[in-house]
Amino acid sequence: MAKGNSRSIRWSSSSLALVALTAVVLLHSSATAAPNAATQPLYGLVERLLPKAYHSTFDFQIVPESAIPPPSPKNKYDVYRVSNVAPAAAADAHASGNGGRQPTILIEGTTFSALGVGLKFYLEQAAQVELTWSGNRFNELPAQPPRVPDLELDSGNVVTTGHVHGSFVPWRYYTNVVTFGYQFTFWDWNRWERELDWMVLNGINQLPAMVGQEYVQREFFRSLGVKEADFASFFSGPTYQPWQRMGNMQGSWTYELTGVGTAADELAYKNRWIDSQWALQQKILARLDGFNITSVLPAFQGFVPRALKNLYPQADIRNSSTWSAFPIEHTNVTYVEPTDPLFAKLSVEYIKLQDKLNNGHRSHHYLLDLYNELIPSCVTEACLKAISKTVSQTLQTANKDAVWVMQGWFLVSPAWNPTMAKAYFAGIQEAAGQAFVYDLASDSVPVWETNSGFFGLDFGWSVINNYGASQGLFGKLSEIQVLPYQAYAKYPNTLRGIGVTAEGINNNEFIYGLTLTFPWANPDQPALNVPKRLEQFIQRRYGPSRATPQVQQAWKILSETVWDCQTKQETGSKSFIEKPPALEMNKPGWLGTAIWYNKTSVVYAWDLLAKSGIAERNAAHGRPLPKSYIFDLVDTTREILLSTVFPSVHGSLIAAYNRQDVAQIRAVGRQLLEVANDADRLLSSHPLFSFGAFVKEARDSSNFPLATGVTTPATFNRNGFRQFLESNARNLVTWWGPDSGSLADYGSKQWGGLISSYYVPRWQLFIAQLELAVQEKRDFDPEAFSALVLKQETAWQAQKWGDKNGESWASNGFASIDVVRQLWVKYAALAAKIAAADD
Ligand SMILES: *[C@@H]1O[C@H](CO)[C@@H](O)[C@H](O)[C@H]1NC(C)=O
Ligand SMILES: *[C@@H]1O[C@H](CO)[C@@H](O)[C@H](O)[C@H]1NC(C)=O
Ligand SMILES: *[C@@H]1O[C@H](CO)[C@@H](O)[C@H](O)[C@H]1NC(C)=O
Ligand SMILES: *[C@@H]1O[C@H](CO)[C@@H](O)[C@H](O)[C@H]1NC(C)=O
Repeated sequence: MAKGNSRSIRWSSSSLALVALTAVVLLHSSATAAPNAATQPLYGLVERLLPKAYHSTFDFQIVPESAIPPPSPKNKYDVYRVSNVAPAAAADAHASGNGGRQPTILIEGTTFSALGVGLKFYLEQAAQVELTWSGNRFNELPAQPPRVPDLELDSGNVVTTGHVHGSFVPWRYYTNVVTFGYQFTFWDWNRWERELDWMVLNGINQLPAMVGQEYVQREFFRSLGVKEADFASFFSGPTYQPWQRMGNMQGSWTYELTGVGTAADELAYKNRWIDSQWALQQKILARLDGFNITSVLPAFQGFVPRALKNLYPQADIRNSSTWSAFPIEHTNVTYVEPTDPLFAKLSVEYIKLQDKLNNGHRSHHYLLDLYNELIPSCVTEACLKAISKTVSQTLQTANKDAVWVMQGWFLVSPAWNPTMAKAYFAGIQEAAGQAFVYDLASDSVPVWETNSGFFGLDFGWSVINNYGASQGLFGKLSEIQVLPYQAYAKYPNTLRGIGVTAEGINNNEFIYGLTLTFPWANPDQPALNVPKRLEQFIQRRYGPSRATPQVQQAWKILSETVWDCQTKQETGSKSFIEKPPALEMNKPGWLGTAIWYNKTSVVYAWDLLAKSGIAERNAAHGRPLPKSYIFDLVDTTREILLSTVFPSVHGSLIAAYNRQDVAQIRAVGRQLLEVANDADRLLSSHPLFSFGAFVKEARDSSNFPLATGVTTPATFNRNGFRQFLESNARNLVTWWGPDSGSLADYGSKQWGGLISSYYVPRWQLFIAQLELAVQEKRDFDPEAFSALVLKQETAWQAQKWGDKNGESWASNGFASIDVVRQLWVKYAALAAKIAAADD
């Protein structure tokens, strides 16, 4: 979809000469177009990411579709070609005085997105580097930009006229709406900028643009007459906005929970947050425009402050079902029934206001989830059809080309069945509306399959893998490399997107990266050589010289174990450590703790990797290990310590309790805490595993610039605001709500600092209670224990990070590799023994 702002091709005279020369040399390129302003943002990306020697390496050209025949009839979207510029042309260009430098690599594409993937192709295949969440090796790039190799990756074919690839789906999308709560909440513009660069390289061309929408909502409700005080029970704290937007929950509870400040302060904090997020959103939208990534803008979702009912007493305004056992005042969200004429009126006005405030940014895509984890207001086919028909018509009234984007997740609820879904979607079809459904977990919860490909709507195939941004090593490698193609074979006209809908990032990078390559294979014969891709991934990640046979073997084993889950498990497992202590802790199923993989193999792989990393470090001659290598060492050591060793020591603790052996309870209890503290020391050494780093991000977000025209009143309590932000961060990864309710520990993290300040005290209490029970010759009392834990946890919610000894902000100052070495020495034999006993 074309955006509203002008994307017309502008010729830049300085590059004309170069283009003409390039066209002469690359005979296969009959229709090389002129460079244009549209490609400028890609040069900006190159300058941000790559060393100077690469800044003038690339000639990016947007070309007409006729210029590059697609590699197969189906791979016709976003076609790119990457080729070497012949040296003669380079010499001529030099003579033409192009700043003394001339591009040596030509990247042509039919869209901006194609060019981005073309650049990634070059970086991966020619330069053997990659931008990932955990790092990159751009500092190790050769001084002389390498030429494009002749060999084709999967086929091994020799290519002489440039590498040509195209996508078989028009859309590649990224994130689901809750990622904006679990992962992005406190990101500043710099972090967003890096992620947007990552998106371009990975071919993402559709992104829910969810940041800051409360600014539009607030303006909108104000214009309807809603009073300031009425927002207090409506808008949520920063980390919970995704669920408030979907009508799952509302309001915030920091003041109520911590007793810090006043209710009025809290409303002021929320307003300031909204003002800063709006400023951030403007930058994101401008960059999306530059990158030609389609934004999916929020629509009027129907959820309103309670007070709206007083303003429109005649309208059909109801309360939605309760969600997740939340206290009633924080759920049961008030909404306008879509079939009431008020809905259409508000919806159209909302989009108009959003367009006005967005200052030139336009999109035809609107996100609207009416029933995510909610019970629909009616069940008959006629009624459901009427609702969706009205909504679709409403969107089209606001924008005749509107595409209703929704997450298919609502159909997972037992409140729905395929007959209802069919009727609901038929309403859109009757309104001749366009829609696009993100099937969030198409591999493990294939809604597309159980609901006949969404009954004719366009949809996308995607993977989550990490609900609540959980961290376990996890993937379904065997399945994901065939399932999207099966889905396409079944619904070739309507499977129009592939995406990554992870709820958090910084884990299992190969799996997510691989998923984003699926669109670029021929869907009729994908023939992905996954083992070879993994080998190359490790070479790019660690550097070819560090990707030794031992390292490759380690990853081969991991790809056949942790990344190839063949059970019904839908997401990475949690560790015992992050769950409330209990006698029995081995729970299979949803975010359970059961380990499905062969521990012996995984421990062996860790052993190989740790040994290699330590040896590499010793031989490094001052050359630092790549960040991703260190990340992997920390991540695998985390998994071994917390998912193999910790559970086993827990088992010994319970055995000692069962034997009524106080001395052993004490001794094994000490061991358990030692494992926890060792893990904490390791994780605290790395910013991506550090609770302190997360809290810092939260507190620092208090300094974000505000939307234009907004000023800070002299009375604004900045310290209070920082604590409010910290409290939101603390609450999300622990209670996830106003009390220790049904979502407690849903967003838990194996993070340094969280282990030491939150989990360890729980375990200390548990061990003490076991001991006491034996001494008093009675059974351990789980309820009494819970009451004690509750007190501890409640106090923790209100604490300020950094106040206590050892509470570091980003890293505890240890080099992660040194801690890995210590822990490998200490635990390698024990872990292997435990694994052998467990398997
Ligand atoms: C911009 O994106 C739209 C939607 O994906 C696409 O149709 C169009 O061709 C793109 N234009 C460029 C120059 O990339
Ligand atoms: C919605 O809930 C609020 C708060 O519990 C209540 O006051 C109101 O009457 C409810 N509205 C409807 C329409 O049930
Ligand atoms: C939530 O709202 C519904 C619909 O108005 C109402 O019937 C129900 O009683 C409310 N739930 C509770 C627990 O108050
Ligand atoms: C686990 O892996 C080890 C080492 O590869 C192997 O010897 C053992 O048979 C495996 N165990 C199971 C239950 O598959």
